Amino acid sequence: MAKKAKAVAVQKTKKDARAEAVDRLRSEWTETEKVILRRRSVRLYKKEQVPEFMVKRILEAGRFAPSAGNCQPWKFIVLRDPEIIDGLTKEVVDTVRKMHGMLDYRQPGRSWSRPLVKAFVRTRPNDLHPVPFMAIKMISEGRLGLWHGAPTVILIFKDVRGVSSPELDCGIAGQNMCLAAHSMGLGTCWVGFGKMAFEYTDKWKKRLGIEYPYTWANSLSIGWPKGEPDGMIERPTHPVDWYEDGKKTVFE
Ligand SMILES: Cc1cc2nc3c(=O)[nH]c(=O)nc-3n(C[C@H](O)[C@H](O)[C@H](O)COP(=O)(O)O)c2cc1C
Repeated sequence: MAKKAKAVAVQKTKKDARAEAVDRLRSEWTETEKVILRRRSVRLYKKEQVPEFMVKRILEAGRFAPSAGNCQPWKFIVLRDPEIIDGLTKEVVDTVRKMHGMLDYRQPGRSWSRPLVKAFVRTRPNDLHPVPFMAIKMISEGRLGLWHGAPTVILIFKDVRGVSSPELDCGIAGQNMCLAAHSMGLGTCWVGFGKMAFEYTDKWKKRLGIEYPYTWANSLSIGWPKGEPDGMIERPTHPVDWYEDGKKTVFE
């Protein structure tokens, strides 16, 4: 009997503790939420290198990401060698310049190429969406850096044999790494444009030993931010459909 009463008391204490924790949540963000909400893409870094152990901890955060079928369909490559980062950057800028030259039908004497360019753009709706297209122009004109001068870059390659959607798994692993880095006071930026160094020629794939089953997924710049770019910002809301008690409500 005493044992039962003790168990009931323990249950009650646990329930009270949970109620208290829930109550606190009404007025306070958790530490994890703070990192998520305050993280901003960082495009200005100090030259000072990030300690090796911190990068290894960031990789651990990536390694522990969930993945479909626990396939872990990723390969991370850490670049801390300026010669390689600069070489890859040059490759991307050269490719982007060529691409921009090819696609810009507004140049004098190029109006004939407009229908061809429009048809090509339709075959690559994600890569040539107006937003990356603006960035292509800026990169080709040297107005947008690639890895933004970060001293550490993590390239993420996906194992194409992964279950379901290896690219999504790589994204989850990458975001784990981003958040871990920001929780340590570091800055990061996703850099999808790194793709240009791996999709159009084999030079850098060979140099870094990338072969089947791995292909480009994405990349992250990592370093000590200049200034304090992290912080909460306004962001447009997207309507969420909410089904409960037999009815649908929409909140923003
Ligand atoms: C998959 C992916 C690829 C991205 N590629 C680039 C890139 O190549 N260059 C860049 O400067 N920012 C890149 N970004 C950063 C976005 O521009 C940025 O996340 C967005 O503007 C929202 O800003 P925030 O990260 O500060 O919230 C990329 C983001 C993601 C998620």
